[in-house]
Amino acid sequence: MTDLETTTIPRRSEGGLRDHVGPGSERVVVITGATGKLGPTVAAAFAEAGDRVAVLARDGAEVDALAASLPGGPGRHLGFTADLLSADDAIGAARAVRERLGPPAVLLHLAGGYAGGSGIADTDPAQLQDLIDVNVWTTFFAIRAFIADIRAAQDGRIITVSSVAGFMQTGTYSAAKAWATTFTASLAGELAGTGVTATALCPGFVRTEFHQRMGLRGQAAPSWAWLDADRLVADCLRDVARGRAVSIPSLRYRAATAALRHLPLRLNQAIGRRGRRSR
Ligand SMILES: NC(=O)c1ccc[n+]([C@@H]2O[C@H](COP(=O)([O-])OP(=O)(O)OC[C@H]3O[C@@H](n4cnc5c(N)ncnc54)[C@H](OP(=O)(O)O)[C@@H]3O)[C@@H](O)[C@H]2O)c1
Repeated sequence: MTDLETTTIPRRSEGGLRDHVGPGSERVVVITGATGKLGPTVAAAFAEAGDRVAVLARDGAEVDALAASLPGGPGRHLGFTADLLSADDAIGAARAVRERLGPPAVLLHLAGGYAGGSGIADTDPAQLQDLIDVNVWTTFFAIRAFIADIRAAQDGRIITVSSVAGFMQTGTYSAAKAWATTFTASLAGELAGTGVTATALCPGFVRTEFHQRMGLRGQAAPSWAWLDADRLVADCLRDVARGRAVSIPSLRYRAATAALRHLPLRLNQAIGRRGRRSR
């Protein structure tokens, strides 16, 4: 086992998580999609590191409940509602975060998700629209709304959550996540030299209910393929601290992704077809 594989989430007392995301105290961290399956673990990691977390999603009761449950006590973290498919909503949320918590230094865009599973010819146009909306348009509107504050912050960070599916040929979800990865890596290039970084986090299977909705049960993916959410956060933040534009948590997924990139396209397509059939 390598030292990368034994990484654990650095706690505040170890000063580690702060080292991973950069210096600063009372940093405001915006987490979109925080009320989803990955969000609460991620939000708790930042709160434990001493950051103030702006929890953002569409459901007001859920964002308030999550903010109140985070380490640090009442009022330290706040919930904000916005539909990130609306440019105005996103800009309004950015203004509200600035006024109520202070200008954010970190945007962690978790809003996104899976829809589909059928072949391209059988894909329902409405489902494709939802997939593009949640993975493409929310990413664009969230970054556009928060980037001015993050650029003004010392060591500003933008992290979007994509997927290793973006390196595969498994249909509409892969295509949407390929967009998210390329978009974020392009932003990283535009920000080079400014002190602000952008990173696309590309996880594989993470142990949540997410894969039950995909129709993937335990037997559809071997046990080695599953990542813990805690481990995901630690690996991602280490890559963010290194200024990497793309973060692929765990050695096994980095190796698999490197292999996929160098495989002939036909072989990659065959793996994608097999993956779809196994769902
Ligand atoms: N979970 C995994 O195993 C896994 C693996 C690889 C990649 N990923 C990626 O990681 C990200 C998070 O996954 P997850 O499983 O936590 O997703 P999830 O459970 O479906 O949660 C999605 C979150 O986004 C919010 N959201 C959706 N549409 C929104 C909109 N228009 N405006 C504002 N907020 C919106 C939802 O809250 P509201 O509905 O209240 O707005 C919710 O908080 C996604 O991009 C997913 O593709 C996940």
